[in-house]
Amino acid sequence: MAKQSPRKTAGKAAAKPRTAADIVRGTPRKLTRAQLIDELNNDLAKEFQALVQYVQHAAAMSGPQYDAIKAELVVHSNEEHAHAISLADQIDFLGGVPGVDVAEARISPDSKVMLEQDLDGELDAIARYRERIAQAEMLQEYGLRRALEDILIVEEEHARDLQDALDR
Ligand SMILES: [Fe+2]
Ligand SMILES: [Fe+2]
Repeated sequence: MAKQSPRKTAGKAAAKPRTAADIVRGTPRKLTRAQLIDELNNDLAKEFQALVQYVQHAAAMSGPQYDAIKAELVVHSNEEHAHAISLADQIDFLGGVPGVDVAEARISPDSKVMLEQDLDGELDAIARYRERIAQAEMLQEYGLRRALEDILIVEEEHARDLQDALDR
């Protein structure tokens, strides 16, 4: 397939396959306000998932070496709840309808695997919110950007807590 100059396609809404490298490079997808609302509802479903997953993991994790992190997971769960409230408010403010979908929680009989599942979720959240912040900026939604930045800071703390617990 012939390579197209980016100038020729600029301005057209051609769907371009997106790779993880795009997120790393910090080149956010251009999108409309309606598309941003859809993305935020996807983020909201993943906040509900994180809330549910942390409640399950905090209760089901066993072994004295996990006592400290179990207490921390309960704190995380409450913070994911606060993120869901913030996102739902922002979606409503943008003129959307906040969703009630819950992405599927991941569970395991192995406590270490639970922590790895939680860390995966946090790293995914960090990548998504970095992109979402850039998209909010593009659409000049500065209040949303600020709300997302507050969430991102907490997700980064969550990832560090889990990395410490996993000795990484
Ligand atoms: Fe969160
Ligand atoms: Fe989190």
